[in-house]
Amino acid sequence: MYIKINNIEFHASEGETVLDVARRAGISIPTLCHKDGVEHYSSCMVCLVRDRRNNSYIPSCSALVQEGMDIDASGDDVKELRRKAVELLLLEHRAECEAPCRVVCPAAYDIPRMNRLLSAGRFREAVDLIVSELATPEIRCLTCGAYCENACRRKKIDTPISIRNIRLFIFDKIKEEKLFSGSAAGSDARYSAKEELKNRFSSRTGKLNDAELRQWLKECDGMSERYRDITSFEQASSEAESCMHCDCRAAGNCALRAVAEDLSLKDPAGKLVNSPIKKKINKNTGLIFENAKCIKCGLCVRVCEDSNDEPALCFINRGFVSIISEPLTAEFDDILASQARKAVEVCPTGALSFIEKT
Ligand code: SF4
Ligand code: SF4
Ligand code: SF4
Ligand code: FES
Repeated sequence: MYIKINNIEFHASEGETVLDVARRAGISIPTLCHKDGVEHYSSCMVCLVRDRRNNSYIPSCSALVQEGMDIDASGDDVKELRRKAVELLLLEHRAECEAPCRVVCPAAYDIPRMNRLLSAGRFREAVDLIVSELATPEIRCLTCGAYCENACRRKKIDTPISIRNIRLFIFDKIKEEKLFSGSAAGSDARYSAKEELKNRFSSRTGKLNDAELRQWLKECDGMSERYRDITSFEQASSEAESCMHCDCRAAGNCALRAVAEDLSLKDPAGKLVNSPIKKKINKNTGLIFENAKCIKCGLCVRVCEDSNDEPALCFINRGFVSIISEPLTAEFDDILASQARKAVEVCPTGALSFIEKT
């Protein structure tokens, strides 16, 4: 059969979806809840197109082709509806793409990553990271008012992480070892890093209550000894263990963030709070589930549902408060013993990830 997409006729076969034909023709349609080979669920509505025959808007990922279809896949009205669909998802998306410390840093230094490397005892890599971020022979922290510490989430619980002193200690080591190999081009690179961060879509949590704040503590390695002044890598490591890792593990490969950027969306100012932010960590596999990042696409449920051998993820509750969860008869520690990676890989956001990622 033949169908039209954007006024061009394409061959289509029985059983194909509008999305299949569009992709084959090189016409870009965004998707979030769709994955090739996984049963359709059509929950996000980001893939909407208009069927001109009856002026109806249909999800292209599940709409099967019909003879004579006349599809508008790129009109302004279609794009506007896609924007509204993503805005609705973002309204209840109470999560951060980038950590507050990094957002305010004038050089956009990757502070959360530095802390993860230090707390894992990977000192050489932490040093290499800082060297790679140096734009000039002097580190920016020397003259900076420690904006990072002012913005540090840990401050809301007890005291901010000693970011500046950690960096200054490591910078002394770098100078001792003469590791700096930057050039004048380096300052342009740092400027671009900051500009890039500013221009990227970034979601935020909205106001956090005390219980929600404490959910972040689950990502620290216990209550390690704190140090204001840093005089050794061991002290830096211990201090870094109290970092709550506020940045999202999916920041670099999140489909929701990418779609929001393509549609030039900003994060909505007010957030809809249907349920408090919770983080669940599976101590056997390191799988972490963050409900505030879940767009309820159900891909993780569908991709693992074939296995009857182990408890997997499912939906619980109804309506606005429906959410992904372990089955009511199982503990989160016991789910997805062998399929956790499959679930993480299919998740279009950072709602499912592994805790150890640096
Ligand atoms: S899931 Fe995506 S949009 Fe949400 S905080 Fe993470 S990177 Fe940002
Ligand atoms: S707790 Fe860690 S990641 Fe969060 S703002 Fe402070 S230093 Fe940054
Ligand atoms: S956890 Fe990820 S894959 Fe599962 S429903 Fe939420 S967003 Fe979709
Ligand atoms: S990708 Fe089609 S409805 Fe989500």
